[in-house]
Amino acid sequence: MKLQLLCLGLMLLCTQGEGDEAVRGNFDLEKISGNWYTIEEASDKREAIEEGGIMRVFIQSIEPVDDSASFFTYWTHASGECKQFNVTSNRVAEGVYTDEYEGYNVFRILDTDYTNYVILELWNFKAEGSFLLLQLYAREPDVSGEIKRRFEHFCHKNGIREGNIIDMTTVDRCLQARGEK
Ligand SMILES: *[C@@H]1O[C@H](CO)[C@@H](O)[C@H](O)[C@H]1NC(C)=O
Repeated sequence: MKLQLLCLGLMLLCTQGEGDEAVRGNFDLEKISGNWYTIEEASDKREAIEEGGIMRVFIQSIEPVDDSASFFTYWTHASGECKQFNVTSNRVAEGVYTDEYEGYNVFRILDTDYTNYVILELWNFKAEGSFLLLQLYAREPDVSGEIKRRFEHFCHKNGIREGNIIDMTTVDRCLQARGEK
């Protein structure tokens, strides 16, 4: 089951990048380690990123564990409270990573300048089906409109329309629980 999902995930990620003008696949997860903030999320399954959705998650940090694993720390709302959780991801192919959270996830870095922002593309697989998630993380709690437009451009290219993109800078991202503000 897992192997089949992985193959499907790899296929989706690899075929999508083809013919793109941008240089892809050479982004290094280790170089995006450190503190981050969730700025925007987008999904073809909107309920996943709406209030109470399984992927309405707020990144705090990404830390390398070893050559092929990274440790992600997130916050989310559970029963009205901010709750922290950690996810370990593993590299399974050049530039392709997997983790287990609310199913099985296959992801890659779609775009980054390493210093200000990173855009992640993730496929979530569960017995009942799969969906696509795009996330914009930034080093600061907010980013320029230019970077947001860049993210939205990637969303549109991946078939995610405007109404399925949510700006998280105006919602409670658990910054207080994180120890800020
Ligand atoms: C997540 O990892 C951080 C850093 O190692 C740790 O301080 C924290 O207690 C962990 N949180 C949970 C919920 O396990």
